[in-house]
Amino acid sequence: MPLTQRVFITAEQIQNRVREMGAQISADYPEGPIYLIAILKGAFVFMADLARAIKTPARIEFIGISSYGRGKSSSGQVKVTKDLDVSIEGHHVLVVEDIVDSGVTLTYLMNLLKQRRPKSLQIATLLDKPERRLRPVEVAYVGFKIPDEFVVGYGLDFAEDYRNLSDICVLAEA
Ligand code: PRP
Repeated sequence: MPLTQRVFITAEQIQNRVREMGAQISADYPEGPIYLIAILKGAFVFMADLARAIKTPARIEFIGISSYGRGKSSSGQVKVTKDLDVSIEGHHVLVVEDIVDSGVTLTYLMNLLKQRRPKSLQIATLLDKPERRLRPVEVAYVGFKIPDEFVVGYGLDFAEDYRNLSDICVLAEA
């Protein structure tokens, strides 16, 4: 059955909120550098906009994570597919995520990064779906809390499609 997209959060709403988040983060971290670590692939668009909204000197890093058995029978098995290229020891680290869903990915990643002794470690996510949480995650910066709808666009995909939409959309069967 074909899928239709319904705009859920407009590009303008996203840009306004990302600017606010950037201003808040800039105020909270008066001294740089902040290591911004985006989780591939979904966070790449948010990272690009958030990084430019942050006025504190920042360094841009990416990490790849894959998880298995997500969903109803979530096994919570997660592994790193692309590690950081740098040491984060003694640095401020802000993990940049597109969406927190079950919390499995971030629980794993935060434990991993903590072992590397950053000076501080926080999370910024554009979207948060608290209803779906299986593992508690402390998120310092949330763009939008959303209900349990399947969303795509602005980096988020369905089977690798839709990542390049400027709006965040809900997918529905036509
Ligand atoms: C998505 C999203 C988060 C994760 C959140 O990534 O980008 O990283 O799922 O889910 P969780 O809270 O249930 O762990 P996905 O594995 O779909 O990969 P992608 O970013 O490459 O699309």
